[in-house]
Amino acid sequence: MAHTCRACASPTECFIDFGRMPLANGFLTPDQFADEYFFDLQAGYCPHCTLVQLIEQPNRERMFNERYPFFSASSSRMSAHFSAIARDLLARHLATPDPLVVEIGSNDGTLLRHFAEAGIRHIGFEPSASVAAAASARSVNTLRRFFDADLAGQVVAAHGPADAVIAANALSHVADLHSVVAGIRTLLAPAGIAVIEDPYWAEVVEQTAFDQIYDEHASYFTLTSVTALFAQHDLEVIDVVPQPVHGGSLRYLIAPAGQRPSAGRVADLLARERASGLHLPATFAAFRDRVTANGEQLVARLQDLRRRRQRVVGYGATSKSTTVINRFGITSDLVEFISDTTPAKHGTFTPGAHIPVRSHAEFAAAYPDWALLFLWNHAAEVRAKEPAFTAAGGRWLGYVPAVRDF
Ligand code: SAH
Ligand code: TMP
Ligand code: ZN
Repeated sequence: MAHTCRACASPTECFIDFGRMPLANGFLTPDQFADEYFFDLQAGYCPHCTLVQLIEQPNRERMFNERYPFFSASSSRMSAHFSAIARDLLARHLATPDPLVVEIGSNDGTLLRHFAEAGIRHIGFEPSASVAAAASARSVNTLRRFFDADLAGQVVAAHGPADAVIAANALSHVADLHSVVAGIRTLLAPAGIAVIEDPYWAEVVEQTAFDQIYDEHASYFTLTSVTALFAQHDLEVIDVVPQPVHGGSLRYLIAPAGQRPSAGRVADLLARERASGLHLPATFAAFRDRVTANGEQLVARLQDLRRRRQRVVGYGATSKSTTVINRFGITSDLVEFISDTTPAKHGTFTPGAHIPVRSHAEFAAAYPDWALLFLWNHAAEVRAKEPAFTAAGGRWLGYVPAVRDF
C-alpha cells in the first residue's frame, strides 16, 4: 500500500532508501546481538504539503524508553543555547502574574531547570525514563508521558492555559503530528506563544547532512511544511529565526491564528523556499546522488587509511552515525572504536555494525592517527576541546558536507 503523508494524507514519494537499519540509539551488548531490531529506513516527501518524512516508522516505545541514552546536558553548546531561550522567554513572553511554561520532550531538564530555579510554574512531558529521572533530580516538574491532545486538555483543566509551550528537537521526533499540534493549540492561552525548534531540511540538503535521517526523526521540516501543518490547527507561524545548532535549525514562533502580527521574514523565507526548488523532485534526486557519492568516498578513504596502517577512531557515538555506518558498511576493521562522553554508552556496541564504544579517556590515553568526526554538528566545540590531539599529530576526518581532512 502506498504511504500517505502524516500531515495531509496525500500519497508520498520515496526519494531515498538506506536499506535495513537498526535503531539509531540502539547501543547494545553482545547478549542482545541476536535479537537486534531492524526496519527499512526510507524517506519520502509529500508533493502536496511538502513534508519530508520517514516511510516506515518504528513504534515510539522502542525508541523512547528507560534506556534512551541521549542527554541534552551532554553538549555545553546546547546547554548554553537552552539557557538563552529561557532568558529570552523570561524577559519577553512571561509577563502574566503566575505564568505557566510547558515543554514537550524536556529530556533531562536542561531547559526547564531555569524556570524551576526562577520559581516559575512549569511542566515537562518526557516519556524516556532515563532522562526524565535526571530532570526530576534537578527539581524539574516532569511527567513521564508522551505528550498528546488528551494530556493537553488535562493540563489546561488542572492548571489553566500555558503562556509558553516549547518543543526543541521534539516535534521532529513525533509520528502522530496532529495529536501533538492539536495539543499545543489546546494548551496555549490566547496571548501565549509556542517556540518550536528543529533541524532545517534545507540545511540537510545544502550540506548533504544525510545522517540526520534516522528512526527518531519522523519528519524533516521547512517553513512551508510547518506553516501548512499548524494552519490545520488554527495556529500561525508569526516569526522564524535560524539557529546555528544541530547543523542549522529553524526556530518557529507560533501563536493562535490572528492574535499577533506576522514578521516580514516569514513571508520572505516562504518565498525563498519556493524559489529555491527545495521541494522539486530533481532536488531530492540530486541529494540522493550526493549521499551515495559521499558515502562511497568515505569508505574508500577509510580503506586507504587501513592499507597504510593508520589507526582510525570514531569521535562521538551519535545517533546520526548509525545511518552512515550501516548504509556504507563501516565496520570495526575500518574504525577501531568510537569515543563518547556518555557513561551509559561505554562498553556497548554500535547498532547494526557493532563497533565498540569506549570512554573519551581511552581516546586520550593513546591518540589514534585519525579521528572520524561523527559529531560534525558540534565540530567547533569538539575542536576547541581537543588541542592536545592535534598537537600530538592527530588529524580529523569529516564527511559532512563532503569527505575532507581538517
Ligand atoms: N529537547 C531536548 C531533547 C531532544 S531529544 C533537546 O533539544 O536536547 C527528543 C526527546 O523527545 C526525547 O527525550 C524523547 O524521549 C522525547 N519525546 C519523543 N516523543 C515525545 C512525545 N510525544 N512527547 C514528549 N516527548 C517526546
Ligand atoms: P547525538 O548526536 O545522538 O545527540 O549524540 C551525541 C553524542 O556525542 C552523545 O553520546 C554525547 C557525545 N559527545 C561526545 O562524546 N563529546 C562531545 O564533546 C559532545 C558534545 C558529545
Ligand atoms: Zn502532505
